[in-house]
Amino acid sequence: MSRPFPPPPFKIGDLVIDPPILQAPMAGFTNAAFRQMVRDYGGSGLIATEMVNARGFAWMDEHAEEHPDRLWGVAEEARPLAVQIWDNDPQTMAKVGRRLVEEYRVSVVDINFGCPVRQVTEKAHSGSYLLRTPQRMFEIISKLVEACSPTPVTAKIRLGCSPESINCNDVAKVVEEAGAAALTVHGRTAKDMFRGHADWDRISEIKGHLKNIPLIGNGDLDSAEKVVHAFKTYDVDGVMIARACLGRPWLFSQAAAALRGDPVPPDPTLAEQRDCMLRHYQLVVDRFGEEKGTVLMRKYACCYAQGKHGARYFRTNVARVNTAEEFHRVVEEYFPSFSNEEVKAMS
Ligand SMILES: Cc1cc2nc3c(=O)[nH]c(=O)nc-3n(C[C@H](O)[C@H](O)[C@H](O)COP(=O)(O)O)c2cc1C
Repeated sequence: MSRPFPPPPFKIGDLVIDPPILQAPMAGFTNAAFRQMVRDYGGSGLIATEMVNARGFAWMDEHAEEHPDRLWGVAEEARPLAVQIWDNDPQTMAKVGRRLVEEYRVSVVDINFGCPVRQVTEKAHSGSYLLRTPQRMFEIISKLVEACSPTPVTAKIRLGCSPESINCNDVAKVVEEAGAAALTVHGRTAKDMFRGHADWDRISEIKGHLKNIPLIGNGDLDSAEKVVHAFKTYDVDGVMIARACLGRPWLFSQAAAALRGDPVPPDPTLAEQRDCMLRHYQLVVDRFGEEKGTVLMRKYACCYAQGKHGARYFRTNVARVNTAEEFHRVVEEYFPSFSNEEVKAMS
């Protein structure tokens, strides 16, 4: 089926997703500081938190503890914002969904049915483990939909648990019947982890199994060109970007420009990228304090340098910083200051 290009905005419930490019949830990365960077550059129609453990949240609530760190910023920041939660118990999920809607006023509650990590699958029978029991998925989704109404509930899945047990077409029907307002599919199985390529043909095929809800494709999109290609080639309403936006929060604005048919803005200069990283750092330190914030920032800082000339030296040095003074010194000394092209021209 040929689809319109540029792709029109689509709706999740009453929420308009424009542009139809979503920022993926990523545990340990997509916290409020990172989301702020994405928002500053623009280009993403829906931004998501990291996955939040619903059982942990419910426990904290009952024991009058502070809410999870992963909800940092959620109550105050700009909308639209999706919060992703995980667990296998419909009641717990419904309870937490209700809190997120009533107290935090989130735009979308997303359910994680894709996480392949043992801690979540084998130990908690959640995430992608649930793909083997679509009936259980139905119970979780329908309870959550009821609890969150009218706020939309969405589901994020993989193709199946393993290449031998791909069941995304059937799961998609269950997700829609249970009342979810959109489905996101990462085009790998849980067993694949991140190996091989995302299978966009399989993602595209799912569209024929959905009646009304939008389909969001995810996997391996790392440039504006690939986003355009995905929309032109596959039957999806939206796309979601994960790894490629770490250290490149401006990627969404480039992809959005390409979808509009505008020239793709170049990457920010290395000095601008460094400033973005320093803004990101400051937000992390403001929240977690200098010591914890600096240690936390090591991994984000590596993302900003990735693929650039001298990234290895920067990574080695930033991996050891403990104070703001050390962080700024390492950035000053080692953050890449010449692009790969400039280095090539010099040699
Ligand atoms: C570090 C990391 C953390 C992730 N955490 C989550 C998560 O919390 N929830 C989720 O649904 N997917 C999570 N994912 C999967 C991504 O959202 C996405 O589905 C996957 O990376 C494929 O997209 P990509 O090829 O654009 O990276 C994570 C991926 C990475 C690399």
